[in-house]
Amino acid sequence: MLSENELWLLSFYRSSEISGALFFGKLAQSIKSGPIQHDMTKHFADESTHAWYWTQCIDRLGAKPLKLRQVYQDQYIAAAGMPANIMEVLAITQVFELRVISQYSVHSQAQGLDPVIRDTLHRIMEDEKWHIEWIRDALHEMENQHGKDLVEKTIRKFKEADREVYSHTMSEHGERIKEILYANERLVNGPK
Ligand SMILES: [Fe+2]
Ligand SMILES: [Fe+2]
Repeated sequence: MLSENELWLLSFYRSSEISGALFFGKLAQSIKSGPIQHDMTKHFADESTHAWYWTQCIDRLGAKPLKLRQVYQDQYIAAAGMPANIMEVLAITQVFELRVISQYSVHSQAQGLDPVIRDTLHRIMEDEKWHIEWIRDALHEMENQHGKDLVEKTIRKFKEADREVYSHTMSEHGERIKEILYANERLVNGPK
């Protein structure tokens, strides 16, 4: 059985994967053909599959996904502004993907984690590794067109926005996130 906080967090992951899928789906439809269109279409398909995995995972644990009002990505756009070109899209995505993989990785190490949740996290993390790779390579290519300095400056700008959004999320939802990630550890090791 899922606790209220766990259901909230898994629903948060599900909503976030759906937003990612919609974002990349729209781009994959409008971008000109070439290697970026190719990889972005696969990226879109992966994020859709991840949303399905979370839906399935919540269902297997006997619950129904919660409807959440605002997802993480909306706050990124609010903090950093809408990306103006493909290089900016890739830069914001790289920063976001790093945040996702680190969150999933911390979660997958929580003690006493339900195997259904752990398996879902591991399946998704495999795909997320490729997301980071193709975007890193595509950004590297973009240095020819936009210059290395501008690409790096753009990544730094989105990293700042990421830190801002993450600390905002933690101040709003930190207690429940920490409870899930560290509660079982406290049970094993005693209170800190
Ligand atoms: Fe994903
Ligand atoms: Fe991803």
